[in-house]
Amino acid sequence: MNVLLIGSGGREHALAWKLAQSKELEKLYIAPGNPGTGQCGENIPIGGGETEQLLEFAQEKDVGLVVVGPEDPLAAGVVDAFEAGGIKAFGPSAEAAKLEADKAFAKQLMRSSSISTAEGRVFDRFSDAKAYIASRDEPVVVKAAGLAKGKGVFVCDDPADGILAAEKIMCDNIFGEAGDRIIVEDKLLGEEASILAFVDGRNIYIMESSQDHKPIGDGDTGPNTGGMGAYSPAPVVTEELMNQITREILVPVVDGMNRSGVPYKGILYAGIMVTAGGPRVLEFNVRFGDPETQPILIRLKSDLLEVCLAVCDGTLEDVTLEWDPRPAVCVVMASGGYPGDYAKGKKITGLEEAEEIEDVIVFHAGTKSENGDVVTNGGRVVGVTALGDGIADAKAAAYKAVERIKFDGAYCRRDIADKAIQKCKT
Ligand code: AMP
Ligand code: GLY
Repeated sequence: MNVLLIGSGGREHALAWKLAQSKELEKLYIAPGNPGTGQCGENIPIGGGETEQLLEFAQEKDVGLVVVGPEDPLAAGVVDAFEAGGIKAFGPSAEAAKLEADKAFAKQLMRSSSISTAEGRVFDRFSDAKAYIASRDEPVVVKAAGLAKGKGVFVCDDPADGILAAEKIMCDNIFGEAGDRIIVEDKLLGEEASILAFVDGRNIYIMESSQDHKPIGDGDTGPNTGGMGAYSPAPVVTEELMNQITREILVPVVDGMNRSGVPYKGILYAGIMVTAGGPRVLEFNVRFGDPETQPILIRLKSDLLEVCLAVCDGTLEDVTLEWDPRPAVCVVMASGGYPGDYAKGKKITGLEEAEEIEDVIVFHAGTKSENGDVVTNGGRVVGVTALGDGIADAKAAAYKAVERIKFDGAYCRRDIADKAIQKCKT
């Protein structure tokens, strides 16, 4: 089967790497891809937003399945367009993608399905939001309701900061229309975990747990980023907790979507805060996480293409998910200055040497080819991912590989997986 993968980040390199191992695969196309995905298939110069061109390409090349990486094309209806064109597409419809693209919709669904989340209110007018935030003593979290490239959330420790955040989103329009509506919710305390599942409309197949590292600095300091590293499994998610998350969160979401006439298929990603009172939902995403996908997929033994097809066909019960029991760690190397301004076009060396280390894969994210070199082309540049017999071994292997990769201004956190290592000791 020919497969078209949409996207160009580290997540898509991991997806391409895994899809390329499928015995069902004939040819893999990636639109637009990066130099890493180019090692797994053929990159084609069509952006994820160019639905008509993508469909035309897929029809011409006899593509049997489209796999969509990022949220924007999903929210814009790329799956609906492919299905209308007679091509199977892995991911939710635009209507179902509202679970991520419209946080007010997600909050409403959680409320009507009795799913634990932070108490929150939706505001369409700044003056109302301001009055509400001013009336509160506790820290608040202010979120743009629409898609804001993962940057739409402000965790504010006092009301003045909360009002400032609401003003930036609603009056200064820093996220455009995505900020016409905001959610103001209580700040939750605890440790975060990412729970991803394959959903075929009825069946839910949970993947191994993982944990992201959002802030730029060691010890979770500084501004939030797209994610500076991840590991899988996350020891904070015990078997008992995973069962509770399944029972009290994932099943009610899928049932709730069915009840409202919007069946859910694709990836359901629940961002969870493990609080003293149990798991609470921070957000839902409708696609694989980035960088969580890198350590998750390096551990997946099953054929990803078969699983994706089973999701599209509603036959997940026919496949099994098998996992490498060894933990995995992904360390993101970023351009100096990220998540603020940063330079591009810096030559990257040592990529091959890094992969000479056993069980290490370097997933490309913000890279491009230039005159025979690979150069930086984004904030998050590569995700250096390693398996190890234990989490500390996986961390050591990942950082050993990081040492071999060089580019001007390269930055990475030094404490990826430390929380897990600490937990495994106690
Ligand atoms: P999101 O983009 O919705 O994943 O939010 C980004 C980050 O903001 C999350 O990973 C959390 O670290 C933080 N966050 C979101 N909502 C809350 C909340 N209610 N309480 C505490 N932190 C939150
Ligand atoms: N790693 C967070 C996300 O993919 O949204």
